[in-house]
Amino acid sequence: MLSKEQNELLTRVGKGTPMGEMMRRYWHPIALSSELPHPDCDPLRQPLLGETFVIWRDSDGKVGVMEELCMHRGASMALGRVEEGGIRCLYHGWKFAVDGTLMETPNHADPRVRQRLKAQAYPVREHLGLIWTYIGPKEHEPPFRHFAYENVPESNRILFKLIVKANYLQMWEAGTDSSHVGILHSNVTRPGWLAEGGTKPVIGDMVTEAWDDMSPKLEIENTKFGFHYVGIRKLNEQKNNVRLTPLFMPNGRIIEFPDFYTTVFDTPLDDQTTATYLVDASPTRALNLQERLTRSGLLSEKNYRDNQFLPTWEGRFGQDREAMRAKQSWSGFSGITQEDAVVTTSMGPVYDRSMEHLVAADAAIVRLRQRIMESLRRFQAGEAPIGVELADLTHMHGFDHDLAPTESWRDYAPDHARYYRTDD
Ligand code: FES
Ligand SMILES: [Fe+2]
Repeated sequence: MLSKEQNELLTRVGKGTPMGEMMRRYWHPIALSSELPHPDCDPLRQPLLGETFVIWRDSDGKVGVMEELCMHRGASMALGRVEEGGIRCLYHGWKFAVDGTLMETPNHADPRVRQRLKAQAYPVREHLGLIWTYIGPKEHEPPFRHFAYENVPESNRILFKLIVKANYLQMWEAGTDSSHVGILHSNVTRPGWLAEGGTKPVIGDMVTEAWDDMSPKLEIENTKFGFHYVGIRKLNEQKNNVRLTPLFMPNGRIIEFPDFYTTVFDTPLDDQTTATYLVDASPTRALNLQERLTRSGLLSEKNYRDNQFLPTWEGRFGQDREAMRAKQSWSGFSGITQEDAVVTTSMGPVYDRSMEHLVAADAAIVRLRQRIMESLRRFQAGEAPIGVELADLTHMHGFDHDLAPTESWRDYAPDHARYYRTDD
């Protein structure tokens, strides 16, 4: 449980809030490359951390990120014309380059104004299908981060995003939560559900006895990037199933699937809306977006269109109560991401955690909040927030192994040694 004040502290991300200012010290994804499909394409209007930006791709293919409102008299640049190496405001035609240079001012002939003024443009990196930006103070720009997913062949990597009407922390906590996986996602995980007559999933590769143990034992350790934990589930006297999940500041996680893993960024658009970016990577096979959307319950346009998660209480989130009665579906929904998005949205846009009642199974959630608080404490003491200096996160992995009770799971995560910290 959090006090109302702590809850406010952790959930508010606008400019000037402690969390918002700390989040601004990291790079964030702001769009998929595919949303700016070609040079001089239509610009995007995109919120991030409670501010709104215009994003566009110039004639050379370079991407610009600037404050949405024109520096002249505030018209939205997202309505502008993208042409000949810049973006032109519709109102009086001021034209800007991706670095913010004021190129033309048709309503003002004197060139000195163009030399004197420059729009606020933010650093941009376009990398493997994601457009990243840094909107914090210039002098604190951290190194750009690299993740393990970069090291698989391009065919073995897919990405998508899902915009959900819920605060980022609800999404991040759902991604941190172990015990819900064999319950909320019974449809695709739990043999016990099938034994009760439940319908077999379309993609059944996650079904394993491990999920029938619904109260996993958690072991948690702090790391330089945040923390990681294992969920240990009893399979039989000889073996436990052990799943390792890394959680990295300020909003990330890596989740293991049977033959791929997903690196997830729960990026706050504002206090009540989250853009979850998911990058799937497989060391062993080519990945396919259609298959992934099927697994996620996002194939139908009723659920997912233009990157938006659409179901709401109007229409009961599309829950199929008849399918529940007929044992075709445990939850009344049809995929993992859909189920997660529904439960997190059902909490209301910003859940008041002073109302909750935590149990031992929620220990990783508690640790997540502690690590955010610790990062905030450091930040407010003038130190760097947790993990901001780590450029190389390519050794950060999760795993899913069946181990004998005598085996140490740490032996299976040797690369994590480089991220262990000794000062907390
Ligand atoms: S408001 Fe943009 S050019 Fe005047
Ligand atoms: Fe989930």
